[in-house]
Amino acid sequence: MAAVAPVPERLVADVMSAPVVTAGAGETIAVAAGRMAEHRVGSVVVTDSQLRPIGILTERDMIRLAAAGADPTATKVSEWMTTDPDVVAPDVTARDAFARLAEHGYRHIPVVRDATLVGIVSMRDLMRVAVVQPAGAHAHEVPRGLEGVVVAETTIGDVRGQEGFYHYRQYSAVDLARTRPIEDVWQLMVDGALPTTLEARAAFAAEIAALRTIPDAVRGELGSIARAGVEWVPLDALRSAVSLVAQTLGFRPSLDVDHATLRANAMQICAVVPTLVGALWRLRSGDEPIEPRGDLGYAANYLYMMQGEVPAPEHAAAVEKYLISTIDHGFNASTFTARVITSTGADLGAAVVGAIGALSGPLHGGAPSRALDMLEAIGTPERAEPWLREAVERGDRLMGFGHRVYKTDDPRSLLLRDVARELGGARQEFAELVEAKAVEVLSELKPGRKLYTNVEFYAGVVLDTCAVPRGLFTPTFASSRVIGWCAHVLEQAAANRLIRPSCDYVGPPPPAPVPAPL
Ligand code: ACO
Repeated sequence: MAAVAPVPERLVADVMSAPVVTAGAGETIAVAAGRMAEHRVGSVVVTDSQLRPIGILTERDMIRLAAAGADPTATKVSEWMTTDPDVVAPDVTARDAFARLAEHGYRHIPVVRDATLVGIVSMRDLMRVAVVQPAGAHAHEVPRGLEGVVVAETTIGDVRGQEGFYHYRQYSAVDLARTRPIEDVWQLMVDGALPTTLEARAAFAAEIAALRTIPDAVRGELGSIARAGVEWVPLDALRSAVSLVAQTLGFRPSLDVDHATLRANAMQICAVVPTLVGALWRLRSGDEPIEPRGDLGYAANYLYMMQGEVPAPEHAAAVEKYLISTIDHGFNASTFTARVITSTGADLGAAVVGAIGALSGPLHGGAPSRALDMLEAIGTPERAEPWLREAVERGDRLMGFGHRVYKTDDPRSLLLRDVARELGGARQEFAELVEAKAVEVLSELKPGRKLYTNVEFYAGVVLDTCAVPRGLFTPTFASSRVIGWCAHVLEQAAANRLIRPSCDYVGPPPPAPVPAPL
């Protein structure tokens, strides 16, 4: 790696927020709380008439106040604020400020120049800057591929790679897949809570049903999208169609719309994507698209729009479990892409189209049909061991194995292995044999790398058993993951900051003279 200049030290002034949301000591707690909610901040600085900070009131104070049973409309800010808060100057380095203030357990610190309030900085911001860029550190210290780097906070869910566990909001995703219909999980992701009554569930289902139909302006164009290109690249077709939906329905920049509008965009896209997938597939095959049926469950309707027949209930149930298990999975590449695009204030359609692009890569979502291709290439049980060994020795990657985050069994793979067992069949038995051989071969030839099956391996087996065409495996993944993307778009837009990292320039040293014109 070429030598690079040190990253300049960041100052409090670089990371603070301004202007500051303030309150007067004589105002009521209810008024101050309303202002905090309106500006989506976790504290207000209490100032005197000269804009000098005399106190700070935080969410933690509100919780204490509520626990004490005090009436916020009759209680003054001065009664609950922390008086004479510690402050920091804008020209102090973030690292020094963090070191000086960390021990106090503050969350927010007013920034003061010449006794006047000029900003506010969170300890989290100071810590992030202090940790990622200590004095003299080089940007290349961030690992390639951003492995292990925390880039945001989320309440949507997460992955615990060492434990082999992932969750949606506070619930195990695998438990949700085993016990809930997909609409419940969709509502959990987009609105933050599972429905608690049958009426709430029905209302959400009715909202979706109305949005499943392809808008007229798009319907007429689908044939040309489906038939474009010599080869069928299903996610290419899907991203063109999604782009057209967003364009014709006039989705506006996320920066310019309120939460309700952005949520409506999200519901529209999530509902219509499965219909688009089925329609594009059928048009490409020379068949007429099939209208969605409101009387069928989500997965049953999806298979029906693809196959033209109502599927066996066990096939619909298996596909629904697969769909739920793939809705979200931490800050994977496509989700991060959706958030980066949203961080620019672009519309929700742009974020989903970009995410589809990221998902189309074989290292991300494009592997389930390749895993099945591998099973077919192996062919018979006795060929498994030599085939796998030769492939790994050649430097090939076994499709459906390995994961950036899981260093133990991928819980989705365990779920789908169970689903495959319930469905039964020769392919499932063969897949289990290949899995066992592959894990053996990988642990021998790639010791210490901890390579096990990922979601894609048994996904291929399950989808194939349920007669989902191979060309629709990745679009089927996209049709559930879009719910996760949209939940992340809503979260990013609600507390946005442009995502704009830096890079190490390692080319020839600039400025070089521009060669004479030709
Ligand atoms: N087969 C053989 N070796 C592998 C495999 C595999 N499937 N996966 C990783 N390795 C090896 C690598 O060759 C490397 O070995 P080395 O140290 O000798 O160079 C080591 O394990 C670490 O690999 P990385 O590439 O650093 O791991 P990374 O976290 O970047 O990759 C990935 C994760 C892309 C999923 C990888 O395991 C892979 O290519 N798998 C096959 C494709 C696949 O199944 N994709 C679907 C992923 S699931 C999803 O996105 C929904």
